[in-house]
Amino acid sequence: MNRERETFGSRFAVIMAMAGSAIGLGNIWRFPYMAGRWGGGAFIAIYIVASLLLALPIMLSESIIGRRSRSGTCGAMEKLAPGSGWKWLGILTVVAPIILMSYYSVVGGWSVEYMFKSLSFEFNNTPAEDIPGLFGTFISSTWEPILMHTLFLGMVAGIVLGGVKKGIEKFTKLTMPALFVMIVAIIIYSVSLPGAGDGVRYLVKTDFSKLSAAAFPAALGQAFFSLSLGVGTVLTYASYVSKKENLLASGLGTAISDLLFAIMAGFAIMPAVFAAGLEPGTGPGLVFETLPFIFNKMGMSSVPWLSAVIAIVFFVAILVAALTSAISMMEVGVAYLREEKGVSRLGAVAMIFCFAWTVGALCSLSFGSLSGVKIFGQTIFNFLDKLCSDILLPLGGLMFSLFVGWKMTREDVRDEFTNGGTLKANCRIWNVFYFLVRYICPAGILIIFISGFFGS
Ligand code: PHE
Repeated sequence: MNRERETFGSRFAVIMAMAGSAIGLGNIWRFPYMAGRWGGGAFIAIYIVASLLLALPIMLSESIIGRRSRSGTCGAMEKLAPGSGWKWLGILTVVAPIILMSYYSVVGGWSVEYMFKSLSFEFNNTPAEDIPGLFGTFISSTWEPILMHTLFLGMVAGIVLGGVKKGIEKFTKLTMPALFVMIVAIIIYSVSLPGAGDGVRYLVKTDFSKLSAAAFPAALGQAFFSLSLGVGTVLTYASYVSKKENLLASGLGTAISDLLFAIMAGFAIMPAVFAAGLEPGTGPGLVFETLPFIFNKMGMSSVPWLSAVIAIVFFVAILVAALTSAISMMEVGVAYLREEKGVSRLGAVAMIFCFAWTVGALCSLSFGSLSGVKIFGQTIFNFLDKLCSDILLPLGGLMFSLFVGWKMTREDVRDEFTNGGTLKANCRIWNVFYFLVRYICPAGILIIFISGFFGS
């Protein structure tokens, strides 16, 4: 793998690849319901601050490690800190994306199901008031969600097996703008619904008095989740980035598009939630319960086939966004098994598939027959989601910032950040970046962790 390591052709390609990983279910599915659960505008405000102040420097840290070492996570630790305890960071960042992928794939499966449902015009043919209930019935059943999880994971495995080809990159470049257009269309519709104003107010009103301490780790976890941080994905992709590329510019490009996308998804969904009289804090079902409801209403009030087409395109787009993210998760583990353990690509994909399938199946059942099984008071699915986004991702991020801030030499880090001093703008803000990575990121993450534990 190391020997055949390539570099991305252009900044656009770098941003597209990183954004392909970053923009996914985290933006469209997770962000709106997190905002709904933690109090709307105030949550979004801390989410934006956490993204720019803590997540972005960590994204750059991971990029610096990846490009410097030109290796995957474990190889990078071996190259930059040979024979040290840092190898555990390599191991953590191989295990975490595989756990993450297990439950991500369950939600990916939901989008496959909803694509099929829209293809069979189910949302048009079901009375609007019954639509939110479809979701609960579906996820609590035994076989169908597992079948969809299998299909989704199979697609991910199939793509990773063939290598992350140019076809996928091109496909992403085509579908991401389509997704953008769709979201804009849905925002316009959603905001124009009677009663939508409450949803808009909910998103822009920053009432910090209602914010609980637990909202801070949730916002930080969401920022890390959405930018694919702390699990070695950015590191691995950055190892393909050319030495000429400006890491700060591509990192900013990725972070801003990801942030915008999340906020747009919030504005596409929340006003409709309020207009439909649904609860903003319902949790993981939010997108799946509300969007089909809107599509149904659109069909009733205008052209039925048009709303069906929009529903199909929307769920296909969610599926594509989820696939490009899941591929990046699987590739981290595959790269590790190939580089460090000498396993073939097929063997690596098969091993990860089996593990993720089993854990994912348990997660899926935790909405139905296994709903009584609790780990630290949470269902299996919720436990893994919390474990990854509230603990493993920030922990990985914390370690990456400590690695860049304290383990690597200042000269090496500066060299990567400024391309050997040739990027003038980067030189000017170098001190700010280094200060954030060395002090603010570790301290910020720790404080948020601790406040979360005491607050919840
Ligand atoms: N960022 C992806 C999303 O928002 C999820 C992800 C997390 C992907 C970590 C890779 C690594 O859907």
